[in-house]
Amino acid sequence: MRWVRIMSKQELPDGDFVRCLKAEGRKLCLIRHEGKLYATQVTCPHAGGHFSGGWCEHGSLVCPIHRYSYSLETGRGAEGQGDYIDLYPTDMREDGVYAGFRVSWLGRLFGD
Ligand code: FES
Repeated sequence: MRWVRIMSKQELPDGDFVRCLKAEGRKLCLIRHEGKLYATQVTCPHAGGHFSGGWCEHGSLVCPIHRYSYSLETGRGAEGQGDYIDLYPTDMREDGVYAGFRVSWLGRLFGD
């Protein structure tokens, strides 16, 4: 697992939010819902909608395009959708919020 700082503490908005950002060349969506931080992929697997205009309800991220929803705990789409999103672990540290990315064997070869 490679941990990347994705936002400083000063940049962190108050309250709940959905914010898409880029850190070290990786795009991801940082979310705070009911006081807990989550990190997900930025595009919706349904038809590629961008989660930047999305919102959260009942523990799920809702895509603003066709309102498909995805569990923030498991990444699974709601019943009947048959899809899922990638989730990344988050960690609040002294200097900001970090997200963890799995490192592939290929990444290890090339220093990722
Ligand atoms: S593109 Fe997200 S629900 Fe259709």
